[in-house]
Amino acid sequence: MSLLASAAVGPARSGDTDRGYLEIAGLSKSFKQTIVLDDLALEVRKGEFVSLLGPSGCGKTTLLRLVAGLLRADRGHVVVDGRDITALPAHRRSVGVVFQNYALFPHLTVAENVAFGPRMQGASRTEVAASVQRFLEMVRLAEYAERSVSALSGGQQQRVAVARALATRPALLLLDEPFSALDRKLREEMEIELRHLLRELGITAIFVTHDQDEALVMSDRIAVMSAGRIEQFADPGTIYARPATPFALDFIGLATKLHGRVVGAGAESVTVETAVGAVIAPGTYPEGARVLVAVRPEYIDLALAGVSGPDPASSRVNHASLVLADVVFLGSRTLLHFKAEGADRAIAEVGHAPEEGLVPGEKFAVRWPVERTLVYPLP
Ligand SMILES: Nc1ncnc2c1ncn2[C@@H]1O[C@H](COP(=O)(O)OP(=O)(O)OP(=O)(O)O)[C@@H](O)[C@H]1O
Ligand SMILES: [Mg+2]
Repeated sequence: MSLLASAAVGPARSGDTDRGYLEIAGLSKSFKQTIVLDDLALEVRKGEFVSLLGPSGCGKTTLLRLVAGLLRADRGHVVVDGRDITALPAHRRSVGVVFQNYALFPHLTVAENVAFGPRMQGASRTEVAASVQRFLEMVRLAEYAERSVSALSGGQQQRVAVARALATRPALLLLDEPFSALDRKLREEMEIELRHLLRELGITAIFVTHDQDEALVMSDRIAVMSAGRIEQFADPGTIYARPATPFALDFIGLATKLHGRVVGAGAESVTVETAVGAVIAPGTYPEGARVLVAVRPEYIDLALAGVSGPDPASSRVNHASLVLADVVFLGSRTLLHFKAEGADRAIAEVGHAPEEGLVPGEKFAVRWPVERTLVYPLP
């Protein structure tokens, strides 16, 4: 069965989803002396939507180009649906690509750009017309069909590129920041529609983004990349609640971060001495170990010092006394930044607009559950 035919079978059946559909193993790539991808492994299930999230230069585009066959790997394998495609040329891979620089055919109209792929695949005139209509509607450009692509804005050209790639019904779709030129509202609409359409067509997709919110919204799983390696590969909820490393913690969401040293090591928890006092965290590290303690802002509760009653004495709650530095109103929620020294930071989130009492310079008693306290070893 060709890759193209396998793409047309529709959404993944549950039995398929446990197997790796795209399997990348030991993939390495250097440019001259610089290692860009370093023994990278990634397994994507059929029909899955995976985001690559990582800082500029970490190797995201390079990884996509290797999967698409536009670049040759130094080592490693790319397998799609059980077939090793490492040595196949790009045009035989049935991989659709939307690049960062959406390379369209400038002399063709919008409709002709989208029609190009299906036509090359030998689709009938009616099928081509139906594809063009469907995918241009999806990207909200149906009324631009007859326009030359060179007469479109950057964001419109990006959307044509997405439609053109989808129209070929690829087995695997690779998207490199396809919505970077769109305004926030249109971008959010496109994200949801693309997600919808890929599910409907059963297309497996890898999506590169700089935008953590976009990755959280769109993805079945997120691969957090750093310097040519994958730091963590998990579903958005896990990545947010249990970042595997300080890098993943920093890259997604906000957190209070306190550097400290383990002063007490129990069977399942450690006591860490930090600049704001002793903090208990689940984990096992030896006494004397240098660690980073972290908490997401929504788990930190506060009360005006002296106003609230005494906290229920509980070993399951951490306490600290912090000086408010800044109040950041974000509409549906408000962030409170507290004073912190050096590389430490302390942030709480209150889920409503602050009414009164949140005066910078004042001291607040804060508390958060031990079980929500993350701890990482430091070198
Ligand atoms: N053809 C090339 N020759 C030499 N170095 C290259 C080449 N292509 C990429 N690199 C280098 O490889 C590293 C990774 O590049 P890549 O384009 O994969 O990063 P990226 O994660 O996509 O970044 P961005 O988010 O900015 O697009 C960078 O340091 C880049 O300069
Ligand atoms: Mg890139």
